[in-house]
Amino acid sequence: MAIIGTDTEQAANLLRAGQLVSIPTETVYGLAANAYLEEAVVSIFEAKQRPAFDPLIVHTHSIQELNKIAVNIPQRAYQLAEAFMPGPVTLILPRHPKIPLLVTSGNESVGVRIPNHPLTLSLLQQLDFPVAAPSANPFGYVSPTTAQHVEQQLGDRIPYIIDGGPCQIGIESTIINLVNNEVEILRLGGLAIEEIETVIKQPVKYVKTSSSNPKAPGMLSSHYAPRKKVLLGNIRENLKNYNPERTGILSFQNVWEQVPRNQQFILAPNGDTNEAARNLFAALRQLDSLSIDIILAELVPETGLGKAINDRLIRASF
Ligand code: TXA
Ligand code: MG
Repeated sequence: MAIIGTDTEQAANLLRAGQLVSIPTETVYGLAANAYLEEAVVSIFEAKQRPAFDPLIVHTHSIQELNKIAVNIPQRAYQLAEAFMPGPVTLILPRHPKIPLLVTSGNESVGVRIPNHPLTLSLLQQLDFPVAAPSANPFGYVSPTTAQHVEQQLGDRIPYIIDGGPCQIGIESTIINLVNNEVEILRLGGLAIEEIETVIKQPVKYVKTSSSNPKAPGMLSSHYAPRKKVLLGNIRENLKNYNPERTGILSFQNVWEQVPRNQQFILAPNGDTNEAARNLFAALRQLDSLSIDIILAELVPETGLGKAINDRLIRASF
């Protein structure tokens, strides 16, 4: 079983030995391995049962390190990095030859990110290599936002989980493709598009890709999904069709009198979408563990992180 603790030196030694360590970040917990070491990266795919076509994000601790992961880095990337790194954003850049093609699923591009969590930044500073890290959940399931979430699902497959507390943002990083002079959002996430546009000073496009040809498999139509059926829509209307005793609720602000209180999760009583993002994945996990037949959920307002939350809710409902 995994040790859960805050000993970054022990974690660093395990990573040097080619082992897996789960790391806290401000978005979600990651499952890290030495990004330069193919054998170590293989075990990430095995532990997550992740298909090899889904590329991994490479994590480092400072902007000066980016040129050890990517090459021909455009000026725009540095502009975004200066503005938002460390932070909830991933940049897709041309791959450095030291990064194995296994990490990038054969792509000549690579995702790079500087996570904003003190324990993980301290860990990364102790290493002389970057780490590849997907979210620390079985492929397709809801991402983990606490060390306990990681332990419940991957605890028997990894030696160490760094406990950095609950994630401050709670949904995955926003992915921006900068290859071939593009500025294109591949995945909505913890950094709102509006914030990116204030730095880029031009509209930034977000192209929804289809599940048959995912540019970023985080965009598969069913992803981030609990095992129970999630019905997205007007909760008041949908409640008419289900036994309230056997129904779970994921609501933005309201409580529903008909449904037992312990089967209801209110994402943001005060209407703050940042708070809703922070609570989203833990709420989905808890609802998934109840003896209920269905989860009734509703979209949230599209302010701040609202678009990214709705993106996750839609994928959870497929
Ligand atoms: O917030 C996050 O990004 C978290 C934390 C742990 O950093 N990581 C995360 O990783 O969400 P993962 O593996 O669950 O999602 C990574 C997404 C995938 O959908 C993958 O396809 C996309 O990033 N991606 C990675 N490299 C890419 C590349 N070269 N081109 C296009 N998409 C890429
Ligand atoms: Mg993931």
